[in-house]
Amino acid sequence: MAVLEGTGTLRSSIISSQLTQHAPYGGVVPELASRAHLENVGAVLDGALNEAGIALADLDRIGVTNGPGLAGALLVGVCYAKGLGLGLGVPVYPVNHLEAHLFANLLEHPDLAPPFMALIISGGHTLLVSVEKWGTYRVVGRTRDDAAGEAFDKVAKLLGLGYPGGPLVEQLAREGDPRAIAFPRPMRNDPSSDFSFSGLKTAIMHQVKHDWPQLTSKRLAEVCASFQEAVTDTLAAKTFAAAEEWGASAVILAGGVSRNEHIRRRFEREAASRGLALVFPSPQLCTDNAAMVARTAVFHAARGALPSLDFAVVPSLGL
Ligand code: KG4
Ligand code: ZN
Repeated sequence: MAVLEGTGTLRSSIISSQLTQHAPYGGVVPELASRAHLENVGAVLDGALNEAGIALADLDRIGVTNGPGLAGALLVGVCYAKGLGLGLGVPVYPVNHLEAHLFANLLEHPDLAPPFMALIISGGHTLLVSVEKWGTYRVVGRTRDDAAGEAFDKVAKLLGLGYPGGPLVEQLAREGDPRAIAFPRPMRNDPSSDFSFSGLKTAIMHQVKHDWPQLTSKRLAEVCASFQEAVTDTLAAKTFAAAEEWGASAVILAGGVSRNEHIRRRFEREAASRGLALVFPSPQLCTDNAAMVARTAVFHAARGALPSLDFAVVPSLGL
């Protein structure tokens, strides 16, 4: 939950992590997620108001994610927000989770103006989006199977590292040689801007079976580094090709996987060598957070139309 003043002053931002509850299962358990949302939502709201030093009655409007995401968790947020909005007599704006990831960039770069090519890389999505203006999006590429974050999570599970996999794989990869194993780069040379990561995961499964039980810590680091390198190569090649194809002068990153330092450094080098601007959020704004949702709601509020309260949750909402 976050409190945003005006268009860019973040008064508070609280992220209530449920990761320790899901970790034993190696992934998010939907029922656990909705229950944890329900149990925490009141206290998180109080915390966000306290930290901001305001009262409920000071809120002018509310933004809430209505999709994409897990139905149960979305329902908790949407019902709670609607109840609050009704009680306070303020409008409640449904916010698209993917659009909010894009807006995370605007919080720290208020002058960021389209057109640009955006790469959204999260646990559920891998999307290349040509952003013509804020609010007008053309999806030019997407994953045909697993999302980039899902690949990190599945590889981490395969290697017995834990959940969520991204940060754990990145940490081990720091000690390994990224050229040690030549993992495939699925779709790397395909003329479309689409991605595929499930074959890469299978290649890693075969590699691990082959190396087991001599999977030394050095080898483990090599597997992580080589996997991360394969993902990075594909993401960078596809994104910069799409930027060129669509005539973009800037590239932006968004979503949980864009926390990855290896990916950030590669994109910086590639953007610099092409004379393109590159923008990505600071780490805590890459992964899911309410500040980006609030910023998106402010954008929709500024465009006029007052929302009605009868919007639904849409677990598979597209951009
Ligand atoms: O955007 P996000 O918080 O939630 C979704 O909308 O899915 O992204 C979560 C994903 C997870 O798959 C997680 O493993 C990945 O982001 N992630 C990372 C890193 N930190 C989080 N992937 C690679 N490197 C990281 N440092
Ligand atoms: Zn997300």
